Amino acid sequence: MPLFTAFTRAALAACLLPWALVVRADDQDGPRRLAWPAAYAKECAACHVAYSPGLLPAASWARLMGGLDRHFGTDASLDARDVEQLSRWLQQNADRRPALAPVPEDRITRTARFVRKHRHIEPETWRLPSVRSPAQCMACHTGADQGRYSEHALRMPEGLSARQRAAWND
Ligand code: HEC
Ligand code: HEC
Repeated sequence: MPLFTAFTRAALAACLLPWALVVRADDQDGPRRLAWPAAYAKECAACHVAYSPGLLPAASWARLMGGLDRHFGTDASLDARDVEQLSRWLQQNADRRPALAPVPEDRITRTARFVRKHRHIEPETWRLPSVRSPAQCMACHTGADQGRYSEHALRMPEGLSARQRAAWND
């Protein structure tokens, strides 16, 4: 085996072994596949779905990962090693479109893209017991835990009125 290949393999094994990778979709800007560290789904999907890294710019991920002990009114602290590894992965796979506006509260749900894509959804719909919050992507995007947000994996949450159903995705 050429030395280079042996070296690359060893280096890869050294980086990847401690955290198994799971390949997920990441279809924010067209279909793309992305390897997710298992620690991400384990640590960041306890209270909401593990959000695709492409949903926020790097600066927002950096602030979020730097303040996990004060995370939207809860404590989502991790050990330093997980924070470091997940931060690096989030930085590498963040939304990289140039000239992104700063995101209020570092919330995906306050990004220009989120607001635009959901502009037909009525405010009451977000508050339905079957939805609870716009941050609960899985209420409507059945593939969100796989990084899939396309229109092909959408369901209407329980409890929509006829009018809300009409406004759903016209
Ligand atoms: C102990 C529970 C908990 C854990 C663990 C947790 N979060 Fe959260 N997270 C929350 C809550 C609560 C909110 C606010 C949800 C809402 O407004 O409905 C939130 C919101 C968010 C948002 C903003 C969602 C929006 O409104 O657009 C992001 C991004 C986020 N979390 C990322 C993470 C990441 C990354 C991790 C892992 C490092 C993580 N969270 C782990 C509780 C948690
Ligand atoms: C109450 C239901 C609901 C919730 C909760 C919800 N969405 Fe959506 N989302 C929709 C609907 C409906 C559309 C389709 C809009 C259209 O095509 O007119 C959509 C569209 C999208 C799109 C565009 C898909 C495409 O192919 O253009 C993205 C990306 C997206 N949502 C991300 C999210 C994320 C991330 C979350 C959670 C932070 C979330 N959504 C929460 C209902 C929801």
